[in-house]
Amino acid sequence: MQAAGTTPSWANDQIWQVVVATGEHLTQIKRAHLAALQSGRSGYSEFPPLHRDAMAAQGRSNVRTWSTDLQTFLGPQYGQMTTASAQLFSAPAIAYLLMPAKASLWTAYDLGAFGQTLMLAATALGVDSMPAAEFVADPQQLHTILNVPADYQFGMGIGLGYRDEQAKINQFRSERMPLDRYLTITD
Ligand SMILES: Cc1cc2nc3c(=O)[nH]c(=O)nc-3n(C[C@H](O)[C@H](O)[C@H](O)COP(=O)(O)O)c2cc1C
Repeated sequence: MQAAGTTPSWANDQIWQVVVATGEHLTQIKRAHLAALQSGRSGYSEFPPLHRDAMAAQGRSNVRTWSTDLQTFLGPQYGQMTTASAQLFSAPAIAYLLMPAKASLWTAYDLGAFGQTLMLAATALGVDSMPAAEFVADPQQLHTILNVPADYQFGMGIGLGYRDEQAKINQFRSERMPLDRYLTITD
């Protein structure tokens, strides 16, 4: 977390806050998340999502490839995705990255950099991590359970723990585009 705190930010404002939920608080969050799913209440993250149809063509194509690859890889075990998601990936700790409700996109950029630094540092320490919008899908519950005031928003949740080597989902390796699909060098 200290390594993540060295992340650069707009005019060095460092306006991130982090709440790491474990123990009883995390149990409450997981219970509330499952109850919301079972009652058909679908939550919305405080960062507004973009509908898949409105995505840039490159993104739509990559999402389609990822989805097909994952379904092919998991086969009949594809249901593991839904179960894992409903159980918030069995994370023993979730780091919630917060930023002020009134903030610019620059702050979202900084929060993303903070999250990536956190994950790299965790990896270096042998701790696995997973960013998931699912962790912040029910912000109202999170505000209540974690006692976070409305002037802060839940940007992202990062699950921290140790991967289950037996779970097939954890053997999946998603593809990345080759360099020439996203890099232009001009001189
Ligand atoms: C912003 C963001 C949101 C994500 N949300 C979810 C999610 O809600 N559920 C999920 O299963 N994966 C989600 N992911 C993807 C997983 O974090 C990712 O697939 C997983 O950690 C495996 O790593 P990989 O990207 O190398 O395959 C999200 C990733 C990012 C960057």
